Amino acid sequence: MGKIKSCFVCQECGYESPKWAGKCPNCNSWNSMVEEFKSQQSYSAGSNLSKIKVNNMPQSIMNIKSIAYDRMNTGINELNRVLGGGIVKGSLTLISGDPGIGKSTLLLQAANNISKQYGKVLYISGEESEEQIKLRGDRLEALSKELFILSETNVEIIEKHIIDTEPIFVIIDSIQTLYNDTITSAPGSVSQVRESSNAIMRIGKSKDIPFFIVAHVTKQGALAGPKVLEHMVDTVLSFEGERTEEFRILRTIKNRFGTTSEIGVFEMRETGLQEVSNPSAVFLEDTEFNREGSIVIGIMEGTRPILVEVQALVSETKAVMPRRTAVGVDTSRLNLILAVLEKKLKIPFYNCDVYVNVVGGLNIEGTLGDLGIALALVSSIKSCETKLEKLLVVGEIGLTGEVRPVTFCDRIVNEGSKMGFKNFIVPSRNKDKINLNNVNIVGVSSLKEVINKVF
Ligand code: TYD
Ligand code: MG
Repeated sequence: MGKIKSCFVCQECGYESPKWAGKCPNCNSWNSMVEEFKSQQSYSAGSNLSKIKVNNMPQSIMNIKSIAYDRMNTGINELNRVLGGGIVKGSLTLISGDPGIGKSTLLLQAANNISKQYGKVLYISGEESEEQIKLRGDRLEALSKELFILSETNVEIIEKHIIDTEPIFVIIDSIQTLYNDTITSAPGSVSQVRESSNAIMRIGKSKDIPFFIVAHVTKQGALAGPKVLEHMVDTVLSFEGERTEEFRILRTIKNRFGTTSEIGVFEMRETGLQEVSNPSAVFLEDTEFNREGSIVIGIMEGTRPILVEVQALVSETKAVMPRRTAVGVDTSRLNLILAVLEKKLKIPFYNCDVYVNVVGGLNIEGTLGDLGIALALVSSIKSCETKLEKLLVVGEIGLTGEVRPVTFCDRIVNEGSKMGFKNFIVPSRNKDKINLNNVNIVGVSSLKEVINKVF
């Protein structure tokens, strides 16, 4: 053994320093320097090879047995879907989201369902007392006798309880409340979170118990705690939505056992989170068609087409810097659409405040909604509604003012037709591939053409 040397390593970026610092000189994150001990003897290739015993050998991929993941049904279809078909045995899943969004509610509901089907579930909370959780359980009717509640924050004690209780599924709410006696820093600090997660991972993998871990987010919306947390776990879910609106979207950020493009939609009710299996119907529930500044667009979320209403309000202003406010739409995308409208259609927005909102709290990613957003803006600035009744718009806009084809256009149009839409504006190159009777499908190839057909 060589000499042991101590050094301080930033848990965020890996920067090493012989001295402790409150702020990492490399990445500027606070309180991330942790002392680590290293043996000074360096590894020199080939020196010890004769003493090393190996148990496993590299194998041809052809000879490795294929396995199907053993999954548990959470009893909540929308949750199963984002997980890729249920909870994989022995997996670690992180669920993050703003306070009050419904993480604890969702997990208590899932825990209840799982305990009824499979057996003992342990719900460990460092945030609420047993009585508080019981109150929520009453409200959610989550009162399975195999659902065990523990209010505890010490990782060692938690480990002991897990070994004694032998649950088939464990929930930790939340990782930021846990602490290790061996580390002096406060719960929630980088080193505490890292050590607690390591401990949980060790327990989970050694006993093949799946864990769900609640994690807080920072003000900027990133996961609080070290980035290693995200790398370590198998799946990262994010629970999003406006707290004031009843809809909640569960999104996969990382998934070792499925795709990351699926979303789950929920509605927060008095009796807990209800699944929304037909999101379009709910998002359009209160939509009055043919209103100034309002257009229904179709987008894809994973494998599902979803229809949502986009509203725009354009009002003249004398301000030097007019406002550009977008909720649910990327502001740079909005600016691009405005620039194309100004340049190609000669519609002036430079002296106007512009507000865009996606109804229902959904965030539109990608470009499928471009054309609809543009039409909502034009409708508002011209103060006129579209002349086509029950209109659904799909299409991407290019910088030269062209309407570009999009993938899955046919599936969105099919969904629209099922939902009772009668008129469709789609990119002309997509139109040929759509086979639908009884509806009016208009193919367009430029913005100019659309404006003439719609207003
Ligand atoms: P909660 O699950 O505690 O959020 P998180 O764990 O993400 O912080 O949910 C908090 C909100 O949900 C709370 O403000 C009340 C609301 N709620 C309902 O509307 N109905 C319900 O049945 C429950 C349990 C909560
Ligand atoms: Mg909570």
